[in-house]
Amino acid sequence: MRLVLLGPPGSGKGTQAERLGPLLGVPHVSTGDMLRAAVDDGAALGRRVRAHVEGGTLVPDEVVGEAVAGRLAKPDAAAGFVLDGFPRTVEQVAILDRVLERLGTSLDRVLALDASEPVIVRRLGGRRVCPGCRAVYHLESRPPRSAGVCDACGAALAQRADDDVAVIRERLRVYEERTVPVARAYEARGLLRRVDGSGEADVVFEALRAAVAGP
Ligand code: AP5
Repeated sequence: MRLVLLGPPGSGKGTQAERLGPLLGVPHVSTGDMLRAAVDDGAALGRRVRAHVEGGTLVPDEVVGEAVAGRLAKPDAAAGFVLDGFPRTVEQVAILDRVLERLGTSLDRVLALDASEPVIVRRLGGRRVCPGCRAVYHLESRPPRSAGVCDACGAALAQRADDDVAVIRERLRVYEERTVPVARAYEARGLLRRVDGSGEADVVFEALRAAVAGP
């Protein structure tokens, strides 16, 4: 199963992809996670993308396209993947088409999560992440057992730089301008299924499962 998970910041793409991947037996491939790991490494790619990732603007298409091409060519993605955060521009749709054509395959489905702006702002404002193992928490909906400490590895939790209120607004603006046309492009191909992402995580997961299994 080759899936793309679309949706505005905070709609729950990462949360749901972490569950869909194991359900389908395929890796969760997140361009946001890949780019943040590069920033943390401090290597050339990280230095090039840092301002974009922390400021909520898009990394150039060719840079992120190259990273995705390399990742999808790895053996663990041969049987499928849940792609989270890519494509987010119409140009990236064409890049993904070329990558999949080279690999002799194609997308099965594109799932578009949605949530209202107040829900998004509440989710992103309350998100805490582990800089060590990258586990994701929420102060209300998914709190760690001990305040401020990662359940999995014991590291001190932090906020993502782009979860600042002004940066959230910029990310939403960029999403409307650059990524909404991506959903329309996949809708025109008959691949898109829209799923309400505003409910509790278990409810959203069941809706996604139904959208994957359905016609
Ligand atoms: P990326 O990491 O992809 O960020 P994003 O799309 O803005 O999405 P988020 O990770 O913020 O949200 P999410 O939808 O995954 O929500 P989550 O599940 O964490 O990209 C970051 C940056 O990298 C971009 O701004 C850009 O600079 C760059 N980049 C990445 N890809 C790129 C590309 N293709 N091209 C160019 N640049 C690119 O949930 C959020 C919070 O809510 C969590 O705390 C979670 O626990 C909680 N939560 C989730 N679901 C629920 C629920 N149902 N109920 C209650 N709480 C919930």
